[in-house]
Amino acid sequence: MNAVEIEQAITDLAEQPFDPAEFPYAFLEAFGNKATTLKRLRAGASNKSDLGGVLQTSNIHILSCDAGQVTQTLAALKASPATGKAKAKFILATDGKDLEAEDLTSGETVACAFKDFPDHFGFFLPLAGISTVRQISENAFDIRATSRLNRLYVELLKDNPEWGTAERRHDMNKFMARLIFCFFAEDTDIFIGKGRFTDTITQMSERDASNTHDVIATLFRAMNTKLEERAATGIPRWAAEFPYVNGSLFSGSDEVPRFSRIARSYLLHVGGLEWTKINPDIFGSMIQAIAEDEERGELGMHYTSVPNILKVLNPLFLDDLREKLEEAGDNARTLLNLRKRIARIRVFDPACGSGNFLVIAYKEMRTIEAEINKRRGETDRASDIPLTNFRGIELRDFPAEIARLALVIAGYQCDVLYRGQRLALAEFLPLRNENWITCGNALRLDWLSICPPTGTGVKVSADDLFETPLDQAEIDFENAGGETYICGNPPYLGSRDQKDEQKADLRVLFDKRVGNWKSLDYVAGWWIKAADYCTHTEAVAAFVSTNSICQGLQVPVLWPEIFSSGCEIDFAYTSFRWANLASHNAGVTVVIVGITTKPRSPRRLFSLDSSGNTLERQGSYINAYLALGETVIVEKASQPLSALSDMTFGNTPIDGGLLLLSRDERDELQLTPEQQRCFVRRIVGSAEFIRGLERYCLWIEDRHLAEARAIPPLAQRIRGVRNLRLNGGKTARDIAERSHQFQRMFIGKNSTLVVPSVSSESREYLPCGYEPAGTVVSNLAFALYDVPLWNMALIATRLHLVWVTTVCGKLETRIRYSNTLGWNTFPVPTLTEKNKADLTRCAEDILLVREHHFPATIADLYNPENMPADLRAAHDRNDEVLERIYIGRRFKNDTERLEKLFDLYTKMVAGGKAPTKKDVARRATARRRA
Ligand SMILES: C[S@@+](CC[C@H](N)C(=O)[O-])C[C@H]1O[C@@H](n2cnc3c(N)ncnc32)[C@H](O)[C@@H]1O
Repeated sequence: MNAVEIEQAITDLAEQPFDPAEFPYAFLEAFGNKATTLKRLRAGASNKSDLGGVLQTSNIHILSCDAGQVTQTLAALKASPATGKAKAKFILATDGKDLEAEDLTSGETVACAFKDFPDHFGFFLPLAGISTVRQISENAFDIRATSRLNRLYVELLKDNPEWGTAERRHDMNKFMARLIFCFFAEDTDIFIGKGRFTDTITQMSERDASNTHDVIATLFRAMNTKLEERAATGIPRWAAEFPYVNGSLFSGSDEVPRFSRIARSYLLHVGGLEWTKINPDIFGSMIQAIAEDEERGELGMHYTSVPNILKVLNPLFLDDLREKLEEAGDNARTLLNLRKRIARIRVFDPACGSGNFLVIAYKEMRTIEAEINKRRGETDRASDIPLTNFRGIELRDFPAEIARLALVIAGYQCDVLYRGQRLALAEFLPLRNENWITCGNALRLDWLSICPPTGTGVKVSADDLFETPLDQAEIDFENAGGETYICGNPPYLGSRDQKDEQKADLRVLFDKRVGNWKSLDYVAGWWIKAADYCTHTEAVAAFVSTNSICQGLQVPVLWPEIFSSGCEIDFAYTSFRWANLASHNAGVTVVIVGITTKPRSPRRLFSLDSSGNTLERQGSYINAYLALGETVIVEKASQPLSALSDMTFGNTPIDGGLLLLSRDERDELQLTPEQQRCFVRRIVGSAEFIRGLERYCLWIEDRHLAEARAIPPLAQRIRGVRNLRLNGGKTARDIAERSHQFQRMFIGKNSTLVVPSVSSESREYLPCGYEPAGTVVSNLAFALYDVPLWNMALIATRLHLVWVTTVCGKLETRIRYSNTLGWNTFPVPTLTEKNKADLTRCAEDILLVREHHFPATIADLYNPENMPADLRAAHDRNDEVLERIYIGRRFKNDTERLEKLFDLYTKMVAGGKAPTKKDVARRATARRRA
């Protein structure tokens, strides 16, 4: 269960008649306990209470009590030996009228009326194993409001199915946005009298809900009619006291969906919430999910948290503003100049969703402005920061609508906070009519039209006539001049997940510019649009992005194009886990990168340590792999650039499975031991090597062919391979006459060093190892034949893992190894004989330790949860030996490892290699910089 579902469940529970015996079970059920767990508790098997209540081990001790006994009962629960013994985290006592509870870990308590306990649901969330409790309890209101609005939305669609169709979705979304505004307005005195909107609906609409839609429509109409025009338009007296709001929010159709009795009661319920507590940054992202069928299950739990948004906005421009504020001290003139600068800043999010990046940027800028006004003794002063300077593009209609609303609400809340309620109210209505959030496809729209270079009027046009935006931003920026900052969290979408129209978006952007653009993530479209934008007008653009655009194969496709536009990396966050509250958020690792044509000095490179603390390093350049160092793109190399042994792809069968054998298939051939020795070999690919699986293949030397053909099952298989190859592609046809063999026949004379082509990213080392003479390596792994052991020591280091992860990239989340990109490019200093001897010993140690744990497989041994200590120690020694060869000591962290590797690589590539196409682009950038 997610937080929203829990909120719904306990709200339902609080509304039911109190049943003392049943309450503890119902409470546990609301927090996601399964029926079987409850059954065992009821049966007493797992109920450890010594007071006649319900005590769930390591969780909660609950006791229902007689009226007026709540406080004493809580004390008894606390004193109960069973509470301590069962390590209960919470105690809870209630008589159905009052409720008291204590979090025994933090000592926090709750004491409230029974009916109000759902208001404290954040307090109890650890019971559901939800650990990001702080985030939720801080946003408890937003979760409750989302939950209630969701119920209303679903109920309305039941009664008005046509409002759920594509044609009416816009009306439905607009209706919900209007409602949200009204709920906020009635609780913040924007409408005269608290709760006036909900009260008016309660009073004026029939209990059977038959005219609820008419009442609401009349109110909306009033809010769209200027006061002086109301009499003429027949607005009834009871609606006339509502102010004129407009802001295009109430313009257009005033049709309202019909309400059932239930929908009406849900509506009144939502209105009953305390809407002053709304967080426009979080709420918008949550609420947008209710309008999306496939997202409704998560109810916005994937929203971007404020700390994550600030990771983009702080280095983008907020840090600089705060620094300037600090430097200004109390100097009135410097403060004034800073205020003027802030008033001219434009923030543009071209995938703005419901505007959370824009709202946070706005709020942070208001905080800085308020401090300026305070220091200048002008606390009453109206803000100079225009909401319309916060522009966005959003594909979906509802979030686009909500984004503007969220900004309007944020504007009001900031006014109340910094200038007081009276001044905030005086200037709030009517809302501005223009729309500065454009609903359309950001990859087809011309960003220079939506966020034009300073001093130019705004006129929206699409690159493609069929993609004309729904709402056109046709207003100028206020306060001419100024800086432009582009930000956001555009959709990532790997190449396999893109829909046809998204592929088409990328085609339009990349087709004539780069080859192999089809491998790019969808987010790459935002990068190239941003780079192009920056070449036309001074701006800095920073996006959250999948880390795959800064790793492996996408780097040589995307980044030379960005660099050749003149942009460089201004700041970046290296890969970090993107945590949100969605249940399916596992595995998203992101980077943040800021680009501009005028990078600031020094460049800032951030990373998060294992405890989530931010570390900052500075340097002259950041490269496309997000390491400090000159811009360099690692290209495939056909030979090792360092003095390393050759690594090749394993043997490709092209056999339709006929040359490959399971153990049973091998036995079914009924070969004599001698025939078996002659024709059958063990074969290993990644899976066989890592999981210790047994697999065989036919391995027939030309000189034994006649003998093999004389064995009917072998002859049959050889014929089968021939037929298949003759009907295959060119490569297959070319080897059809060698159908007793693999495409190539590489095999180690003494031993083969195997490197799996794919490996789990959770392993701390790449699992490579030796196979004895006679074992074949399949094309699902890489092989080094008869090579010295120190090669294995290199592959097994942390240093090599870091290099490979960075330059080879990933297959989904797994590490994808490549000989040409990972091994041949691996920068290794010249190794002395002593170095080689030391590394050989390290590799032997690793192999011996593995041997010692026989029959554990590589998968068992390298499972990070229980990697044996002696194996870890052997790897650690290996790391130490190699790192000392590089820099005379251990590296402090992976960032340092990567920097050293890139430094060596840059020198190696510069030393005598012909410049590649990408080198040329790099040098062009360098020339421009000069
Ligand atoms: C990852 S969300 C980020 C939204 C918001 N900043 C947040 O954190 O919740 C990406 C947004 O981009 C929007 N989007 C997807 N494709 C788009 C396109 N081609 N043009 C404009 N917006 C798009 C999606 O609808 C979604 O709201």
